[in-house]
Amino acid sequence: MAVGIFDSGLGGLTVLDAVEKRLPDVPFVYLADSAHAPYGVRTADDIFDLTCAAATRLFDAGCDLVILACNTASAAALRRMQEAWIPQDKRVLGVFVPLIEAMTERQWGDNSPPREVAVKHVALFATPATVASRAFQRELAFRAIGVDVEAQACGGVVDAIEEGDMILAEALVRSHVDALKRKMPDPDAAILGCTHYPLMQSHFQDALGPDVRVFSQASLVADSLADYLTRHPDMLGTGKSDFLTTGDARRVSDRATQFLRRRITFQSA
Ligand code: DGL
Repeated sequence: MAVGIFDSGLGGLTVLDAVEKRLPDVPFVYLADSAHAPYGVRTADDIFDLTCAAATRLFDAGCDLVILACNTASAAALRRMQEAWIPQDKRVLGVFVPLIEAMTERQWGDNSPPREVAVKHVALFATPATVASRAFQRELAFRAIGVDVEAQACGGVVDAIEEGDMILAEALVRSHVDALKRKMPDPDAAILGCTHYPLMQSHFQDALGPDVRVFSQASLVADSLADYLTRHPDMLGTGKSDFLTTGDARRVSDRATQFLRRRITFQSA
């Protein structure tokens, strides 16, 4: 049995780390499409094709359930995949909805009409493709009214993290937070809408200031996956725990080891 976790690169490891801690008995197959990262500068069609290919690879590895631990794929491809592509006996879930449910104080799957919530001014930090999709605003509008969202496309941050250049990543985070603050001087909440960004969470918090509540996905996704598996234990699949990459396995293993602070060995996908 195994559940598939997919990201364009290393960002999904932030989600993997949280789901492994929450569900220690569940094996996971992690797939990083490192050869095609970053996705955030690609077209929606391109992201759709790459995400379908990645999900197919994880189905082939014995995963019946695949989590897109990538906001860009969740925002640009998931709806289209759910409408017309996913085979009947498989499931593909994204990482957007658990975050929006937490921000709008909803329980899992609460589909009641949109209502006023505590947060009023929300800063969204995400990749250019996620921002362009407006998926966050669309999902939020189903659940909340009166929330002002200002989105900042954080060009370059994913590339810097994938290259292991954390000094550049930090400088870019600070300049993107400054740019956001010029448009929205006093956000009361910030969404890290890319699974790479929790690796820079302290820098976002520092640049935003202590009064801004920063939401990131890892633990929220872990809780909703635990809830999903309790209700659908048949979706555990047949695969075995593994780390797969379409890129240079040695290089990706070294970076992953650095981020998770334990030895991670990727195989070629
Ligand atoms: N971790 C992906 C996300 O959550 C990164 C996207 C990219 O490859 O640009 O959006």
